[in-house]
Amino acid sequence: MKKIILTGDRPTGRLHVGHYVGSLRRRVELQNSGEYDEIHIMIADAQALTDNADNPEKVKMNISEVALDYLSCGIDPEKSNILVQSYISELTELTFYYSNLVTVSRLQRNPTVKAEIQMRGFNTSIPVGFFTYPISQAADITAFKATTVPVGEDQLPMIEQAREIVRSFNSTYDEVLVEPKALLPENEVCSRLPGVDGKAKMSKSLGNAIYLADEPEEIRKKVMSMFTDPNHIRVEDPGSLEGNTVFTYLDAFCKDDMFAEHLPEYQNLQEMKDHYTRGGLGDVKVKKFLYEVLMEELSPIQARRKELEKDVPAVMEILRDGSVKAREIAAQTLDEVKSAMKINYWSA
Ligand code: TRP
Repeated sequence: MKKIILTGDRPTGRLHVGHYVGSLRRRVELQNSGEYDEIHIMIADAQALTDNADNPEKVKMNISEVALDYLSCGIDPEKSNILVQSYISELTELTFYYSNLVTVSRLQRNPTVKAEIQMRGFNTSIPVGFFTYPISQAADITAFKATTVPVGEDQLPMIEQAREIVRSFNSTYDEVLVEPKALLPENEVCSRLPGVDGKAKMSKSLGNAIYLADEPEEIRKKVMSMFTDPNHIRVEDPGSLEGNTVFTYLDAFCKDDMFAEHLPEYQNLQEMKDHYTRGGLGDVKVKKFLYEVLMEELSPIQARRKELEKDVPAVMEILRDGSVKAREIAAQTLDEVKSAMKINYWSA
């Protein structure tokens, strides 16, 4: 069986370093591993509209922003097909048919939907489109017969629901759809990088994110303001690593060979941590090192972004080509779905 990846993001903002360690970096590795027959990366604009119906400008603007982030991180359109969800109208048709296989109570039990409804304060005024987006996401995944869906932990209930829809479809009609598997980030730090305030998940609304496209000076400021150990007041005090955001970021970004260039008094992160917990290592020094570490990874990405930004229409062309290709695949699946459902009256 072919190995096929489908994954995606809602275009509601520029991508930040949490997206980077949680998924983008991995996608590039998966892309370059050569292990997959097809890779599709979806900019899920239709899904973004399910809770931004009154703000299409925001969604529109962020399509090219997200694409620029992808390309500058090393997503190569020759190897990974980038597509825009709304172009593929077959997806909405699949969603309509799949919705017959899903109950309202099952959707109400979806933990991600539940949490999001609460977070957005919808109470009982939940847009139907938003409520049913797990079905639409199942359409995204199955249209490409994806076997592997690299996602963060918060998306697991979506994949589970997609699997149920596949099983239900295949047993009710015919073996057409493929059951996908989630692929989670390798380590926990990368799975949920906190904001610079150390509090929550990084997010735009909380204003605690470091964006891939932030200017170096902006990144320096954010790093220097990061939450550390509030009891670590004097340099000689022993510091705690628990919930210490600067070290969490180092866990996500630092490679041992970076010490030789930026901070040769340590061989590796463990030595630095030991010094910190023993006492005698100040926060400012750790933060300066983190800034260097971050910039080592982000500088080449930012340089590529600056180049790509000079020709946004070319980026939009890449998305169009990817969407056209994607549409052919989705149309093929829709044909198979309709014939399994016996509603292909006029085709051979
Ligand atoms: N729901 C995903 C998110 O909020 C985005 C998404 C849309 C997606 N369709 C998808 C992810 C299909 C994986 C597969 O990040």
